[in-house]
Amino acid sequence: MVKVAVFASGNGSNFENLVKKKREGLLKGDIVLLIVDKKEAYALKRAKKLGIESVFIDPKSFLSKEEYEKEIIATLKKKDIDFIALAGYMRIVGETLLKEYEGRIVNIHPSYLPELKGKDSIKRAFETKKDFTGVTIHFVDRGVDTGKIIYQEKLVIDKKWTLEELEKKIHELEYEIYPKGLNLIFDKESY
Ligand code: GRF
Repeated sequence: MVKVAVFASGNGSNFENLVKKKREGLLKGDIVLLIVDKKEAYALKRAKKLGIESVFIDPKSFLSKEEYEKEIIATLKKKDIDFIALAGYMRIVGETLLKEYEGRIVNIHPSYLPELKGKDSIKRAFETKKDFTGVTIHFVDRGVDTGKIIYQEKLVIDKKWTLEELEKKIHELEYEIYPKGLNLIFDKESY
């Protein structure tokens, strides 16, 4: 079975959801490792509770992005990781990691791409009074939220919702479709 590492920078609710979905038999990959780039990331606490190995790799302790990503790769290789799922990892993936895991890095983005690329997509959808937004699962390439789309779903915005309500709906949709999007790939590839 494909061995997956999740990368996160903060809360880690998508990471936890993927682990739970795997345990419920609803994800066709095994989440074996969490990597974070912030030592205060709440995702670390979730990993501990779930019994999943986690590693904090501090970008600041390397002279370059290349060195930082080489350390990530060495960590991934030690655990025989085949595939990377970004979930709230607030860093642009560099050339070194992209080359090593070519076509095997995916991201979840809280908008209906190509709409609302980049940061604060949920807030921007709310503030600009969009009729709909959504969630997209896509491959990671050299751009920001530009890679090939694997799966996406729309969410029609009820004008009565507060920003918090919209955020909640988006996260619920994320928990439902991230496993779906990953399964689409894991069904096709042999690892
Ligand atoms: C999610 O909204 C995800 O789409 C975005 O960052 C957020 C991470 O949330 N890329 P969490 O850390 O999984 O709770």
